[in-house]
Amino acid sequence: MLSRPRRNRSSAAVRNLVRETELNAGHLVQPIFLMPDAGARLPIPSLPGTFRLGIDEVLREIEDCLRVGLASFMMFPAVPEEHKDKTGTYATAEQNFYLHAARAIKDRFPEVCLISDAALDPYSTDGHDGVVIDGKIHNDETLKLLDAMSVAQARAGFDIIGPSDMMDGRVGSIRRALDAAGFTDTAIMSYSAKYASAFYGPFRDALDSAPRKLQDVPSDKKTYQMDPANAREALREAALDADEGADYLMVKPALNYLDIIYRLHEAHPLPIAAYHVSGECAMLLAAAERGWLDYEQAASEALLSIRRAGADVIISYFAKDFARWQQQ
Ligand code: PBG
Repeated sequence: MLSRPRRNRSSAAVRNLVRETELNAGHLVQPIFLMPDAGARLPIPSLPGTFRLGIDEVLREIEDCLRVGLASFMMFPAVPEEHKDKTGTYATAEQNFYLHAARAIKDRFPEVCLISDAALDPYSTDGHDGVVIDGKIHNDETLKLLDAMSVAQARAGFDIIGPSDMMDGRVGSIRRALDAAGFTDTAIMSYSAKYASAFYGPFRDALDSAPRKLQDVPSDKKTYQMDPANAREALREAALDADEGADYLMVKPALNYLDIIYRLHEAHPLPIAAYHVSGECAMLLAAAERGWLDYEQAASEALLSIRRAGADVIISYFAKDFARWQQQ
C-alpha cells in the first residue's frame, strides 16, 4: 500500500495542517427578533434558546456577541396585530420600533453590520410577503412597497437590505430606489434561491406571520418561493439578482440545499450567503434536549458543512453559541 490517507489524520497538529475549511465568528450572522416593548424577553417555544427581545435586551445581546467576535446581525420585527394591514403601511411609519431600534444600535455600536428584512409578511394581515389583491400576490404593486421599505431601512442605518420576498425584479427596483435616495453605499443581500420550505415554522411562530387561513388569501407561498425540486431555476434566479445589482446571493434553507449553495458558489463570483433556518436549528435542538445528539458537536458540524458547501456567510440561530465555543 503506497497511499495511506490515515497518515494525514494521525494527530491534532497534522489534522490542523490539512484542514480544508475554516469557520469562525466572522463568517456568521445572528438573527434577532425584535419586539416593541423595550424590556421584553419572550421565549419562542419552538426555538429554545432564542428570544423575542426589546431594544434594551437587544443592546445587551449585541454587546455579548461583540465580546465573542460576532458583529453581524439580521433583524426581524415582531409587529403587534394592531399595526398590521393589507399593505404593511407600518413598515415605513415614523414611529416604527424596528427602524428606531436600528438607529439606536448603530448609534451605540457603529462597528456592527446590520442586515434588514425587506418583505411584507411581518406587517401584513394576510401573512404574505407581497400584497394580496383579488386572491393573488401582486408582484409589481409589491415592488413599490419594498422600495419604500428599503429606503426607510437604509435611512434608519441598516448596512445591508435583505429582500426575503421572492418577487420578480425586486433587487433592481430596490437598487434604483436606494440610489435615487442617495444610499449608494447600502448593500443588498438578496434571498435569491428561497424555497417554499416546511422548515420556517418556528420563525413564523416567533413573528406570528404565517399565511392566514382566510378566504381569498392563498394558504402557502408556492407562487413566489421556489419549488424544492428545482436546482437549475436557482441559477436563473441568482443570475437575475446578480444582473440587478445584488451584493450577496443567498440560499435558504441551508442544510437541505447544500447542492444549491455549491452550484451558486461555482457559478457566481459574488459572496454566497446561506440561511440555516429556524426549523433546521429546532430539529437539532430538540434531539439535543432528549440527549440524542451533542448540541455543541452537532451544531458545529452543521455550520461547518454549510461553509464547506460554499457559503461565505452563514445566518444561523447557533451563531452566538458557536462564537462562544470557539473562544473557549
Ligand atoms: C419571510 C421570512 C421567512 C424567514 C425569513 N424571512 C419565513 C417565510 O418565508 O415564511 C424564515 C427564516 C427562518 O425560518 O429562520 N419574509
